[in-house]
Amino acid sequence: MLNSLKGKRIILGITGGIAAYKAAALTSKLTQKGAEVHVIMTASAKQFITELTLQSLSKQRVYSDTFQERDPEAIAHIDLADTADLVLIAPATANIIGKMAHGIADDMLTSTLLAVTAPVMVAPAMNVHMYQHPAVISNMKILAERGIQFIEPGEGLLACGYVGKGRLEEPETIVRVVENYLAQRDSTASGPLKGKKVMVTAGGTIERIDPVRYISNDSSGKMGFAVARAARALGAEVTLVVARTDEAPPQDPAIEIVRASSAQDMYEAVSGRWSDCDILVKAAAVADYRPKESAGSKIKKSGDTLTLELVKTTDILETLGRSKNKQFLIGFAAETGNAEVYAKDKLVRKNLDLIVANDVAVEGAGFGTDTNIVSIYDAGGLVLDLPLVSKDEVARRLMLLAAERTSGAAL
Ligand code: PMT
Repeated sequence: MLNSLKGKRIILGITGGIAAYKAAALTSKLTQKGAEVHVIMTASAKQFITELTLQSLSKQRVYSDTFQERDPEAIAHIDLADTADLVLIAPATANIIGKMAHGIADDMLTSTLLAVTAPVMVAPAMNVHMYQHPAVISNMKILAERGIQFIEPGEGLLACGYVGKGRLEEPETIVRVVENYLAQRDSTASGPLKGKKVMVTAGGTIERIDPVRYISNDSSGKMGFAVARAARALGAEVTLVVARTDEAPPQDPAIEIVRASSAQDMYEAVSGRWSDCDILVKAAAVADYRPKESAGSKIKKSGDTLTLELVKTTDILETLGRSKNKQFLIGFAAETGNAEVYAKDKLVRKNLDLIVANDVAVEGAGFGTDTNIVSIYDAGGLVLDLPLVSKDEVARRLMLLAAERTSGAAL
Protein backbone atom coordinates (compact mmCIF):
# COMPACT_ATOMS: atom_id res chain seq x y z
CA MET A 1 0.00 0.00 0.00
CA LEU A 2 1.27 3.49 -0.87
CA ASN A 3 1.91 5.70 2.14
CA SER A 4 -1.40 7.51 2.32
CA LEU A 5 -0.25 9.68 5.25
CA LYS A 6 2.57 11.39 3.39
CA GLY A 7 1.93 15.12 3.08
CA LYS A 8 -1.51 14.93 4.74
CA ARG A 9 -2.45 17.69 7.18
CA ILE A 10 -3.98 16.06 10.21
CA ILE A 11 -5.48 17.94 13.13
CA LEU A 12 -4.98 15.81 16.23
CA GLY A 13 -7.41 16.87 18.96
CA ILE A 14 -6.30 15.71 22.40
CA THR A 15 -8.80 15.85 25.24
CA GLY A 16 -8.43 15.40 28.98
CA GLY A 17 -8.17 11.79 30.01
CA ILE A 18 -5.32 9.67 31.30
CA ALA A 19 -4.97 8.14 27.82
CA ALA A 20 -3.73 11.55 26.65
CA TYR A 21 -0.22 10.21 27.31
CA LYS A 22 -0.71 7.85 24.33
CA ALA A 23 -1.22 10.88 22.10
CA ALA A 24 2.54 11.41 22.23
CA ALA A 25 3.19 8.05 20.54
CA LEU A 26 0.36 8.74 18.11
CA THR A 27 1.81 12.13 17.16
CA SER A 28 5.23 10.58 16.72
CA LYS A 29 4.00 7.71 14.52
CA LEU A 30 1.86 9.94 12.30
CA THR A 31 4.75 12.40 11.90
CA GLN A 32 7.24 9.63 11.11
CA LYS A 33 4.93 8.45 8.31
CA GLY A 34 5.08 11.90 6.73
CA ALA A 35 1.87 13.49 8.03
CA GLU A 36 1.88 17.14 9.12
CA VAL A 37 0.32 16.90 12.56
CA HIS A 38 -1.29 19.99 14.06
CA VAL A 39 -2.15 19.33 17.67
CA ILE A 40 -5.03 21.09 19.43
CA MET A 41 -5.30 20.37 23.15
CA THR A 42 -8.14 21.11 25.50
CA ALA A 43 -7.37 22.74 28.86
CA SER A 44 -7.95 19.39 30.60
CA ALA A 45 -5.59 17.56 28.22
CA LYS A 46 -2.82 19.89 29.40
CA GLN A 47 -3.23 18.44 32.91
CA PHE A 48 -2.04 15.09 31.54
CA ILE A 49 0.57 15.94 28.91
CA THR A 50 2.54 19.07 28.04
CA GLU A 51 2.38 21.21 24.92
CA LEU A 52 6.15 21.02 24.75
CA THR A 53 6.09 17.22 24.35
CA LEU A 54 3.67 17.41 21.44
CA GLN A 55 5.39 20.38 19.84
CA SER A 56 8.72 18.53 19.98
CA LEU A 57 7.23 15.38 18.42
CA SER A 58 5.13 17.09 15.74
CA LYS A 59 7.63 19.88 15.00
CA GLN A 60 4.58 22.13 14.75
CA ARG A 61 3.08 24.79 16.94
CA VAL A 62 0.53 23.33 19.40
CA TYR A 63 -2.80 25.12 19.86
CA SER A 64 -5.00 25.32 22.94
CA ASP A 65 -6.19 28.89 23.32
CA THR A 66 -8.65 30.30 20.75
CA PHE A 67 -7.67 33.84 21.62
CA GLN A 68 -3.94 33.44 21.40
CA GLU A 69 -3.74 34.57 17.77
CA ARG A 70 -0.10 34.82 16.80
CA ASP A 71 -0.53 35.49 13.08
CA PRO A 72 -2.42 38.73 12.28
CA GLU A 73 -3.01 37.44 8.73
CA ALA A 74 -5.12 34.42 9.74
CA ILE A 75 -7.65 33.24 12.30
CA ALA A 76 -6.03 30.10 13.62
CA HIS A 77 -9.04 27.81 14.09
CA ILE A 78 -10.53 28.71 10.70
CA ASP A 79 -7.21 28.38 8.94
CA LEU A 80 -6.53 25.00 10.50
CA ALA A 81 -10.06 23.82 9.68
CA ASP A 82 -9.85 24.97 6.06
CA THR A 83 -6.58 23.22 5.31
CA ALA A 84 -7.05 19.92 7.15
CA ASP A 85 -7.26 16.60 5.31
CA LEU A 86 -8.56 14.83 8.40
CA VAL A 87 -9.34 15.50 12.04
CA LEU A 88 -8.58 12.83 14.60
CA ILE A 89 -9.72 13.17 18.20
CA ALA A 90 -7.68 10.81 20.37
CA PRO A 91 -8.34 10.32 23.16
CA ALA A 92 -11.93 11.56 23.01
CA THR A 93 -13.65 11.99 26.37
CA ALA A 94 -17.39 11.73 26.98
CA ASN A 95 -17.32 15.52 27.33
CA ILE A 96 -15.94 16.25 23.84
CA ILE A 97 -18.32 13.68 22.31
CA GLY A 98 -21.24 15.47 23.99
CA LYS A 99 -20.05 18.89 22.86
CA MET A 100 -19.55 17.71 19.28
CA ALA A 101 -23.00 16.12 19.17
CA HIS A 102 -24.64 19.36 20.31
CA GLY A 103 -22.54 21.89 18.41
CA ILE A 104 -20.93 23.53 21.43
CA ALA A 105 -17.90 25.64 20.55
CA ASP A 106 -16.34 26.96 23.74
CA ASP A 107 -12.64 26.39 23.15
CA MET A 108 -10.06 26.09 20.37
CA LEU A 109 -10.79 22.41 19.60
CA THR A 110 -14.58 22.60 19.56
CA SER A 111 -14.54 25.86 17.52
CA THR A 112 -12.25 24.23 14.95
CA LEU A 113 -14.52 21.19 14.81
CA LEU A 114 -17.51 23.33 13.87
CA ALA A 115 -15.54 25.03 11.10
CA VAL A 116 -14.01 21.89 9.61
CA THR A 117 -15.35 20.21 6.46
CA ALA A 118 -12.74 17.41 6.34
CA PRO A 119 -13.67 13.95 7.68
CA VAL A 120 -13.51 13.49 11.43
CA MET A 121 -12.46 10.35 13.31
CA VAL A 122 -13.01 9.88 17.00
CA ALA A 123 -11.16 7.41 19.26
CA PRO A 124 -13.02 7.38 22.60
CA ALA A 125 -11.41 6.57 25.94
CA MET A 126 -13.30 6.62 29.22
CA ASN A 127 -14.55 4.56 32.14
CA VAL A 128 -16.61 1.53 31.09
CA HIS A 129 -19.81 2.83 32.73
CA MET A 130 -19.37 6.23 31.12
CA TYR A 131 -18.96 4.50 27.75
CA GLN A 132 -22.22 2.62 28.30
CA HIS A 133 -24.15 5.63 29.62
CA PRO A 134 -27.27 6.30 27.51
CA ALA A 135 -26.24 9.95 27.05
CA VAL A 136 -22.87 8.93 25.60
CA ILE A 137 -24.45 6.22 23.43
CA SER A 138 -26.99 8.68 22.09
CA ASN A 139 -24.32 11.34 21.42
CA MET A 140 -22.19 8.80 19.55
CA LYS A 141 -25.23 7.78 17.49
CA ILE A 142 -25.84 11.42 16.53
CA LEU A 143 -22.22 11.76 15.44
CA ALA A 144 -22.21 8.44 13.54
CA GLU A 145 -25.32 9.53 11.63
CA ARG A 146 -23.45 12.72 10.74
CA GLY A 147 -20.74 10.58 9.14
CA ILE A 148 -18.19 10.75 11.94
CA GLN A 149 -16.17 7.56 12.20
CA PHE A 150 -15.37 5.92 15.50
CA ILE A 151 -12.27 3.95 16.33
CA GLU A 152 -13.75 1.80 19.05
CA PRO A 153 -11.95 1.56 22.38
CA GLY A 154 -10.39 -1.74 23.36
CA GLU A 155 -11.24 -3.87 26.39
CA GLY A 156 -8.92 -4.29 29.34
CA LEU A 157 -7.83 -2.86 32.66
CA LEU A 158 -8.82 0.80 32.78
CA ALA A 159 -6.99 3.51 34.74
CA CYS A 160 -9.98 3.73 37.10
CA GLY A 161 -9.42 0.09 38.12
CA TYR A 162 -12.38 -1.37 36.22
CA VAL A 163 -11.90 -4.02 33.56
CA GLY A 164 -14.02 -3.42 30.45
CA LYS A 165 -14.42 -1.45 27.27
CA GLY A 166 -13.10 2.09 27.33
CA ARG A 167 -9.34 1.84 26.82
CA LEU A 168 -8.02 4.02 24.00
CA GLU A 169 -7.11 1.86 21.03
CA GLU A 170 -3.35 1.43 20.67
CA PRO A 171 -1.57 4.17 18.65
CA GLU A 172 -0.36 1.61 16.04
CA THR A 173 -3.95 0.51 15.41
CA ILE A 174 -5.24 4.08 15.22
CA VAL A 175 -2.52 4.94 12.69
CA ARG A 176 -3.46 1.86 10.62
CA VAL A 177 -7.15 2.80 10.61
CA VAL A 178 -6.33 6.38 9.54
CA GLU A 179 -3.94 5.13 6.85
CA ASN A 180 -6.53 2.71 5.42
CA TYR A 181 -9.20 5.38 5.45
CA LEU A 182 -7.03 7.90 3.61
CA ALA A 183 -5.84 5.25 1.12
CA GLN A 184 -9.43 4.36 0.31
CA ARG A 185 -10.37 8.03 -0.01
CA ASP A 186 -7.43 8.64 -2.36
CA SER A 187 -8.47 5.72 -4.56
CA THR A 188 -12.07 7.01 -4.58
CA ALA A 189 -10.83 10.37 -5.76
CA SER A 190 -9.24 8.76 -8.82
CA GLY A 191 -11.53 5.73 -9.32
CA PRO A 192 -12.94 4.68 -12.71
CA LEU A 193 -16.40 6.09 -11.90
CA LYS A 194 -15.02 9.50 -10.96
CA GLY A 195 -17.28 12.23 -12.36
CA LYS A 196 -20.19 9.81 -12.87
CA LYS A 197 -23.52 10.20 -11.12
CA VAL A 198 -24.86 6.83 -10.05
CA MET A 199 -28.37 6.35 -8.69
CA VAL A 200 -29.16 3.09 -6.89
CA THR A 201 -32.48 1.84 -5.54
CA ALA A 202 -32.69 -0.60 -2.63
CA GLY A 203 -35.22 -2.33 -0.38
CA GLY A 204 -38.81 -3.37 -0.92
CA THR A 205 -41.59 -0.91 -1.65
CA ILE A 206 -44.68 -0.97 0.55
CA GLU A 207 -48.15 -0.54 -0.87
CA ARG A 208 -50.68 0.53 1.73
CA ILE A 209 -53.95 -1.37 2.19
CA ASP A 210 -54.94 0.82 5.15
CA PRO A 211 -52.98 2.78 7.80
CA VAL A 212 -51.88 -0.43 9.58
CA ARG A 213 -51.43 -2.96 6.75
CA TYR A 214 -49.43 -3.11 3.58
CA ILE A 215 -48.20 -5.36 0.77
CA SER A 216 -44.43 -5.69 0.51
CA ASN A 217 -41.72 -8.27 -0.17
CA ASP A 218 -38.60 -9.75 1.42
CA SER A 219 -35.98 -7.35 0.08
CA SER A 220 -33.59 -6.33 2.85
CA GLY A 221 -31.84 -3.62 0.87
CA LYS A 222 -28.44 -5.36 1.26
CA MET A 223 -27.85 -5.79 -2.47
CA GLY A 224 -28.64 -2.16 -3.27
CA PHE A 225 -26.56 -0.89 -0.36
CA ALA A 226 -23.60 -2.95 -1.56
CA VAL A 227 -23.97 -1.44 -5.05
CA ALA A 228 -24.07 2.09 -3.58
CA ARG A 229 -20.91 1.44 -1.55
CA ALA A 230 -19.12 -0.10 -4.54
CA ALA A 231 -20.05 2.82 -6.81
CA ARG A 232 -18.78 5.25 -4.20
CA ALA A 233 -15.54 3.30 -3.70
CA LEU A 234 -14.92 3.60 -7.45
CA GLY A 235 -15.33 7.37 -7.27
CA ALA A 236 -18.96 7.98 -8.29
CA GLU A 237 -21.31 10.54 -6.82
CA VAL A 238 -24.03 8.32 -5.41
CA THR A 239 -27.72 8.81 -4.69
CA LEU A 240 -29.39 5.90 -2.92
CA VAL A 241 -33.18 5.70 -3.08
CA VAL A 242 -34.27 3.51 -0.18
CA ALA A 243 -37.62 1.77 0.29
CA ARG A 244 -38.51 -0.39 3.33
CA THR A 245 -35.51 -2.05 4.96
CA ASP A 246 -34.38 -3.14 8.42
CA GLU A 247 -30.74 -2.59 7.53
CA ALA A 248 -28.88 0.66 8.19
CA PRO A 249 -28.02 2.32 4.87
CA PRO A 250 -24.31 3.06 4.24
CA GLN A 251 -23.08 5.71 6.67
CA ASP A 252 -21.06 7.68 4.19
CA PRO A 253 -21.71 11.41 3.99
CA ALA A 254 -20.82 11.20 0.29
CA ILE A 255 -23.83 8.95 -0.41
CA GLU A 256 -27.07 10.92 -0.61
CA ILE A 257 -29.98 8.98 0.90
CA VAL A 258 -33.52 9.56 -0.39
CA ARG A 259 -36.44 7.72 1.25
CA ALA A 260 -39.23 6.37 -0.93
CA SER A 261 -41.90 4.13 0.49
CA SER A 262 -44.22 3.01 -2.32
CA ALA A 263 -43.60 2.22 -6.00
CA GLN A 264 -45.12 5.61 -6.84
CA ASP A 265 -42.80 7.41 -4.34
CA MET A 266 -39.86 5.59 -5.88
CA TYR A 267 -40.97 6.51 -9.39
CA GLU A 268 -41.15 10.17 -8.39
CA ALA A 269 -37.79 10.09 -6.57
CA VAL A 270 -36.01 8.35 -9.45
CA SER A 271 -37.63 10.17 -12.38
CA GLY A 272 -37.02 13.55 -10.67
CA ARG A 273 -33.26 12.81 -10.67
CA TRP A 274 -33.14 10.90 -13.95
CA SER A 275 -31.97 13.66 -16.30
CA ASP A 276 -28.93 14.24 -14.10
CA CYS A 277 -28.04 10.56 -13.77
CA ASP A 278 -25.34 8.66 -15.69
CA ILE A 279 -25.92 5.16 -14.35
CA LEU A 280 -29.13 3.83 -12.76
CA VAL A 281 -29.05 0.53 -10.87
CA LYS A 282 -32.47 -0.75 -9.84
CA ALA A 283 -31.75 -3.34 -7.16
CA ALA A 284 -34.98 -2.51 -5.29
CA ALA A 285 -37.83 -4.98 -5.31
CA VAL A 286 -40.69 -2.83 -6.55
CA ALA A 287 -44.31 -3.95 -6.24
CA ASP A 288 -45.91 -4.73 -9.59
CA TYR A 289 -49.40 -4.18 -8.17
CA ARG A 290 -50.86 -2.00 -5.43
CA PRO A 291 -54.34 -1.91 -3.85
CA LYS A 292 -56.65 0.15 -6.04
CA GLU A 293 -57.88 1.97 -2.94
CA SER A 294 -55.92 2.59 0.25
CA ALA A 295 -58.45 2.89 3.09
CA GLY A 296 -58.14 6.03 5.23
CA SER A 297 -58.85 4.13 8.45
CA LYS A 298 -58.26 0.52 9.59
CA ILE A 299 -60.41 -1.97 7.67
CA LYS A 300 -62.63 -3.75 10.20
CA LYS A 301 -63.06 -7.53 10.21
CA SER A 302 -66.46 -8.41 8.72
CA GLY A 303 -67.30 -11.25 6.27
CA ASP A 304 -65.44 -14.55 5.82
CA THR A 305 -63.56 -13.25 2.81
CA LEU A 306 -62.18 -9.91 1.80
CA THR A 307 -61.33 -9.09 -1.79
CA LEU A 308 -58.62 -6.60 -2.53
CA GLU A 309 -58.59 -5.15 -6.02
CA LEU A 310 -55.05 -4.54 -7.20
CA VAL A 311 -53.92 -2.28 -10.02
CA LYS A 312 -50.60 -2.16 -11.82
CA THR A 313 -47.91 0.21 -10.53
CA THR A 314 -45.81 2.23 -12.93
CA ASP A 315 -42.89 0.14 -14.13
CA ILE A 316 -40.10 2.57 -13.31
CA LEU A 317 -37.42 0.87 -15.37
CA GLU A 318 -39.63 0.36 -18.38
CA THR A 319 -40.79 4.00 -18.33
CA LEU A 320 -37.27 5.36 -17.98
CA GLY A 321 -35.90 2.84 -20.48
CA ARG A 322 -38.12 4.48 -23.11
CA SER A 323 -36.73 7.96 -22.43
CA LYS A 324 -33.12 6.85 -22.10
CA ASN A 325 -30.54 9.07 -23.79
CA LYS A 326 -27.09 9.19 -22.16
CA GLN A 327 -28.04 6.96 -19.20
CA PHE A 328 -26.70 3.46 -18.63
CA LEU A 329 -29.51 1.36 -17.22
CA ILE A 330 -29.04 -1.72 -15.04
CA GLY A 331 -31.94 -3.82 -13.81
CA PHE A 332 -32.11 -6.81 -11.52
CA ALA A 333 -34.37 -9.77 -12.15
CA ALA A 334 -35.56 -11.73 -9.11
CA GLU A 335 -36.80 -15.08 -10.42
CA THR A 336 -37.78 -18.47 -9.04
CA GLY A 337 -36.76 -20.65 -11.98
CA ASN A 338 -36.08 -19.93 -15.66
CA ALA A 339 -34.04 -16.92 -14.60
CA GLU A 340 -32.18 -16.60 -17.89
CA VAL A 341 -35.30 -16.54 -20.06
CA TYR A 342 -37.19 -14.04 -17.90
CA ALA A 343 -34.15 -11.82 -17.33
CA LYS A 344 -33.41 -11.59 -21.06
CA ASP A 345 -37.05 -10.73 -21.72
CA LYS A 346 -36.88 -7.89 -19.14
CA LEU A 347 -33.61 -6.65 -20.62
CA VAL A 348 -35.26 -6.16 -24.01
CA ARG A 349 -38.69 -4.99 -22.80
CA LYS A 350 -37.21 -2.39 -20.44
CA ASN A 351 -34.45 -1.30 -22.87
CA LEU A 352 -31.68 -2.05 -20.33
CA ASP A 353 -27.94 -2.09 -20.90
CA LEU A 354 -27.37 -4.87 -18.36
CA ILE A 355 -29.57 -7.14 -16.29
CA VAL A 356 -28.49 -9.05 -13.20
CA ALA A 357 -30.46 -12.26 -12.83
CA ASN A 358 -30.69 -13.91 -9.43
CA ASP A 359 -32.71 -17.01 -8.72
CA VAL A 360 -34.09 -16.13 -5.29
CA ALA A 361 -35.20 -19.73 -4.69
CA VAL A 362 -31.58 -20.92 -4.56
CA GLU A 363 -29.89 -21.03 -1.16
CA GLY A 364 -27.39 -18.20 -0.67
CA ALA A 365 -28.98 -16.07 -3.40
CA GLY A 366 -31.53 -13.30 -3.37
CA PHE A 367 -33.41 -11.81 -0.44
CA GLY A 368 -31.85 -11.06 2.94
CA THR A 369 -28.58 -12.96 2.53
CA ASP A 370 -25.09 -11.46 2.57
CA THR A 371 -24.28 -13.50 -0.55
CA ASN A 372 -25.73 -13.83 -4.02
CA ILE A 373 -25.42 -15.98 -7.13
CA VAL A 374 -25.94 -13.97 -10.30
CA SER A 375 -25.66 -14.03 -14.07
CA ILE A 376 -25.29 -10.71 -15.83
CA TYR A 377 -26.62 -10.33 -19.38
CA ASP A 378 -26.50 -7.67 -22.07
CA ALA A 379 -28.19 -7.61 -25.47
CA GLY A 380 -25.51 -9.99 -26.79
CA GLY A 381 -26.09 -12.63 -24.08
CA LEU A 382 -24.21 -13.71 -20.98
CA VAL A 383 -21.52 -11.28 -19.85
CA LEU A 384 -20.57 -12.59 -16.42
CA ASP A 385 -21.51 -15.55 -14.23
CA LEU A 386 -20.77 -15.14 -10.53
CA PRO A 387 -21.11 -18.23 -8.34
CA LEU A 388 -21.82 -17.86 -4.61
CA VAL A 389 -19.96 -14.67 -3.61
CA SER A 390 -20.68 -11.82 -1.23
CA LYS A 391 -23.10 -9.12 -2.31
CA ASP A 392 -20.17 -6.70 -1.97
CA GLU A 393 -18.27 -8.70 -4.58
CA VAL A 394 -21.30 -8.85 -6.91
CA ALA A 395 -21.61 -5.08 -6.51
CA ARG A 396 -17.93 -4.45 -7.13
CA ARG A 397 -17.87 -6.56 -10.31
CA LEU A 398 -21.09 -4.96 -11.54
CA MET A 399 -19.81 -1.43 -10.99
CA LEU A 400 -16.47 -2.24 -12.65
CA LEU A 401 -18.43 -3.53 -15.63
CA ALA A 402 -20.53 -0.35 -15.69
CA ALA A 403 -17.37 1.77 -15.47
CA GLU A 404 -15.82 -0.14 -18.35
CA ARG A 405 -18.95 0.11 -20.51
CA THR A 406 -19.54 3.81 -19.83
CA SER A 407 -15.92 4.85 -20.35
CA GLY A 408 -15.27 2.55 -23.25
CA ALA A 409 -11.98 1.47 -21.66
CA ALA A 410 -11.17 -2.04 -20.49
CA LEU A 411 -10.37 -2.03 -16.76
O1 PMT B 1 -32.51 -6.52 -0.98
P1 PMT B 1 -31.88 -7.90 -0.78
O2 PMT B 1 -32.47 -8.63 0.39
O3 PMT B 1 -30.38 -7.81 -0.72
O4 PMT B 1 -32.25 -8.78 -2.02
C1 PMT B 1 -31.75 -8.47 -3.29
C2 PMT B 1 -32.82 -8.60 -4.39
C3 PMT B 1 -33.24 -10.05 -4.53
C4 PMT B 1 -34.04 -7.71 -4.06
C5 PMT B 1 -32.15 -8.06 -5.70
O5 PMT B 1 -31.03 -8.81 -5.98
C6 PMT B 1 -33.14 -8.09 -6.87
O6 PMT B 1 -33.28 -9.08 -7.56
N1 PMT B 1 -33.82 -6.94 -7.11
C7 PMT B 1 -34.89 -6.83 -8.11
C8 PMT B 1 -36.18 -7.35 -7.57
C9 PMT B 1 -37.33 -7.19 -8.56
O7 PMT B 1 -38.18 -6.37 -8.33
O8 PMT B 1 -37.22 -7.89 -9.63
P2 PMT B 1 -38.31 -7.91 -10.82
O9 PMT B 1 -37.87 -9.02 -11.66
O10 PMT B 1 -39.70 -7.94 -10.23
O11 PMT B 1 -38.11 -6.52 -11.54
C10 PMT B 1 -37.17 -6.33 -12.58
C11 PMT B 1 -36.58 -4.95 -12.50
O12 PMT B 1 -37.61 -3.98 -12.74
C12 PMT B 1 -35.97 -4.63 -11.19
O13 PMT B 1 -34.75 -3.93 -11.41
C13 PMT B 1 -36.99 -3.73 -10.52
O14 PMT B 1 -36.37 -2.76 -9.64
C14 PMT B 1 -37.65 -3.05 -11.71
N2 PMT B 1 -39.04 -2.66 -11.48
C15 PMT B 1 -39.99 -3.59 -11.19
C16 PMT B 1 -41.29 -3.19 -11.01
C17 PMT B 1 -41.63 -1.83 -11.13
N3 PMT B 1 -42.86 -1.40 -10.94
N4 PMT B 1 -40.67 -0.93 -11.43
C18 PMT B 1 -39.40 -1.32 -11.62
O15 PMT B 1 -38.54 -0.50 -11.90
